[in-house]
Amino acid sequence: MLGKVLLLEKAQVINDRGNNRDLRVYRRKSVWVGRGMVARCERLLNFVEKRYYAAHNQDSILATHYDTEVHILKEVEGVQGIPNMLAHSKMLPLGAQVIYMDYCGEPLSLSNCPRNWREQATKLGDALNDLGIYHGDINVRNICIRDGQLYLIDFGLISAIKPAQSFAESIQTILDDLALPKHRQKNTEILQRRLRRPRKGR
Ligand SMILES: Nc1ncnc2c1ncn2[C@@H]1O[C@H](COP(=O)(O)OP(=O)(O)OP(=O)(O)O)[C@@H](O)[C@H]1O
Ligand SMILES: [Mg+2]
Repeated sequence: MLGKVLLLEKAQVINDRGNNRDLRVYRRKSVWVGRGMVARCERLLNFVEKRYYAAHNQDSILATHYDTEVHILKEVEGVQGIPNMLAHSKMLPLGAQVIYMDYCGEPLSLSNCPRNWREQATKLGDALNDLGIYHGDINVRNICIRDGQLYLIDFGLISAIKPAQSFAESIQTILDDLALPKHRQKNTEILQRRLRRPRKGR
């Protein structure tokens, strides 16, 4: 854990000229991995930085997203198929809310879906059920695949109500949707829009 955090710090070159307003973080070798409703995500080495949009701090529902996600990621630490949270902060310049977590690969698609996805999803779904955690936003953008491992991400919209579908059934629905011709898919159009390079200032 400590080694990983040290590596993360090495990826950031901080130029502090003795004035907080001049503090800048340079991101070298970073790659955008996605832009969502509440945050944009950037990959640094093997980590993802999820940076929440400051504008949402004032919104009563979206403002709780960061706190919920931090809380849940601590609770599910060690569960296979959930990214490890490496660090989190509200203290960065401009009060930005940031979570650093393991990189979980590319969004689920028909080509990267592992053969044993059902087995992995059942195990992960059972582990979350045992903890009383219901994700609340299971969709193709929140499922990633890395080296044949299925990951569930984005824990800011946890629900107290047990969903009608199990996690494995939800994934089956997503895969069925992905198998439809492009113009009939409900999820991929949204996915492509969100994966575009983020606009400046967001
Ligand atoms: N740990 C990760 N590893 C790989 N990709 C990630 C990771 N975290 C986020 N992403 C990518 O960034 C996108 C946005 O992240 P996330 O879903 O956490 O943000 P959000 O703003 O909460 O999204 P939403 O629009 O679903 O509310 C994801 O769809 C995914 O493609
Ligand atoms: Mg998401």
